[in-house]
Amino acid sequence: MAIELAPLPLPKSADPSKFAHFGREVKGLHPARLTPDQLEQVKDALYKYDALLFRNVVVTPEEQYAFTKEFDPLCDSYGHGNNKTESTVKSVLHPDLKTIPRVPQVQLIGNGIVYNHEGLAEAKLKHPSHTTFHKSPVSPEDEEKGVTRFYRWHIDAALYDLNPPKVTTLYGLKVPKGSTQVCRYDDGTGDELPVPLGTTAFVSGKTMFNILPPEYKSLAVRSRVKYAPHPYIWMAPARAMPTGLGIESEGRELPLNEVPPWEESRIKIFPVLWKNPVTGELHFEVHPCGILELFVDPLPEGAMREGALYPDGAHITNLKEVRELMYKMQRPAIAPQLVYPHDWQENDFILFHNRGVLHSVVGAFKPDQVRAFHQCNLAASDEPIGPSPDDVKRWA
Ligand SMILES: [Fe+2]
Repeated sequence: MAIELAPLPLPKSADPSKFAHFGREVKGLHPARLTPDQLEQVKDALYKYDALLFRNVVVTPEEQYAFTKEFDPLCDSYGHGNNKTESTVKSVLHPDLKTIPRVPQVQLIGNGIVYNHEGLAEAKLKHPSHTTFHKSPVSPEDEEKGVTRFYRWHIDAALYDLNPPKVTTLYGLKVPKGSTQVCRYDDGTGDELPVPLGTTAFVSGKTMFNILPPEYKSLAVRSRVKYAPHPYIWMAPARAMPTGLGIESEGRELPLNEVPPWEESRIKIFPVLWKNPVTGELHFEVHPCGILELFVDPLPEGAMREGALYPDGAHITNLKEVRELMYKMQRPAIAPQLVYPHDWQENDFILFHNRGVLHSVVGAFKPDQVRAFHQCNLAASDEPIGPSPDDVKRWA
């Protein structure tokens, strides 16, 4: 029997025509109690719609891990590896994660102090705030009025040594109620987006590619990104742009000889476009904060050279140039009408296609607003697949 899927409730800000194939609520099912047939349908729906919501379900860390693993049965370590190793202590991600002792692949994230939680006597959680990451944060007066920012648009991925997880699951256990905030872009466009308190914002990597003009589609289909070694340590001294979509180029990154020991062979080079294993469509998947260099292949034989960017190919090592190119290609897709800001309710369980979307933490809580979420993703057993020769021919 077919599982029941319903469109996600879209906010007024969203352009429904751009969400026809994004997001579904899976009705009446528990993610850990699916028959093999239902599980196959859920997998299929995940790759078709990129984000699935199960509402009003009670999910244990063991169940969450087991369900997440179904999407990549060969892997069993958390997406960022062991976050207790010394080399990750300096990482910008370090303060945000607390591991569930019984199930180390599941992380407790949120805000405020949580007591006696799944074997953790006391966990001090801090919702990541743009004020410690953006170059020019919102003024305290505006923050007081409820103005906020996208914290950091990203893919859940270590981007060094480990492969980007195929899926991430997020489970909302405690969701504090509070007023709507206004997420301001502050990039001169005047763009802003009303958001529920503590929303997780998603954009589609497929839409990110589909809305590009032809010359940037051609560039994207021919390009590969090289990420920095230990990117979250490398980027730690640097500050982000007001849209949370990458780093300001001020030369503040840690010099590569000062990041913990690394090997060239473990550095990640990924295509800009990742091929959806079910639909075959291309998703623009770049973590803008970690990028270091860009490789562009020359146009294939027979392609139109007129107006083409880097028709003979290029290896771009100027960090500012790499970032500016990427920003030009990614910024259109985070326009307010293309963002899905999820309005969390307690016991919401979201499964998202980590290789098909970008997402961001948004907003700010007061210290006494307690939020507790479980997050799980697993370093994948394989690398993402890029465009096929036919894709290159079609788009280059
Ligand atoms: Fe994330």
